[in-house]
Amino acid sequence: MEIIITPDPAAASHLAARRIARLIREKPDAVLGLATGSTPVTLYKELIRMHREGGLDFSRVSTFNLDEYLGLAPDHAASYHRFMEENFFQGVNIPRGNIRLPDGLAKDVPAHCADYEQEIRDAGGIDLQVLGIGSDGHIGFNEHGSSLASRTRIKTLTERTREDNARFFDKLEDVPHHVITMGIGTIMESRSVVLLAFGAGKADAVAGAAEGPITASNPASILQMHPDAKFYLDEPSAGALERAEYYKWVFKNKPAWQADQ
Ligand code: GLP
Repeated sequence: MEIIITPDPAAASHLAARRIARLIREKPDAVLGLATGSTPVTLYKELIRMHREGGLDFSRVSTFNLDEYLGLAPDHAASYHRFMEENFFQGVNIPRGNIRLPDGLAKDVPAHCADYEQEIRDAGGIDLQVLGIGSDGHIGFNEHGSSLASRTRIKTLTERTREDNARFFDKLEDVPHHVITMGIGTIMESRSVVLLAFGAGKADAVAGAAEGPITASNPASILQMHPDAKFYLDEPSAGALERAEYYKWVFKNKPAWQADQ
């Protein structure tokens, strides 16, 4: 696990975008795992800029999103389908057929989840998974107590997560209780993980994930077991880390050959 503490969200997003761009240049048919929420918006903007101004080509890239609300149609204003369309897909040249998100209107949810897992396997697995983190440490919609080996499935949101996400809806009552999310086991199989976290509201979750015990009470803590997980943080989200100075020293003093990895 590598902890990269940057001055602000723009700097963190820029570094994360560079890492994704490098992957796409090395492997033009890369499979990306994508996340929603406010956190990755600047990353997506930066990737769109790299596509428009730097010729970063997504024409062979495939994507799988982490999660979707159950009961929301793809064109619902708060659906993750709509979020991804507006914040990323309409700005890059990923072929429509290469884009996958869980279907919030799936009739047979367990069968749909099994198909989603199969589609990920058929695509050769996820090369790089983008993650945000909930204020309680959840990744995707894997709430506290989620099995650390879980697969794509239905989950019930905690009230805290519904309240955190209520800003995307007209009112709290409109936030669905049920979602489909990739499991923690699914996320752990991606070959690399880029987690972004910004703001003081994420500081405890980040500290627990990076320096606490591995526990289903902070699902992101399982990333300590991932061979290639990087956290891109701003100063406030790094505020509760005990070893922040060490992480900064490590990042500043990397051997040149390791600098952009
Ligand atoms: C939701 C999403 C997560 C996201 C989290 C944090 O729960 N399912 O993938 O990481 O919100 O969102 P934000 O980035 O808006 O703080």
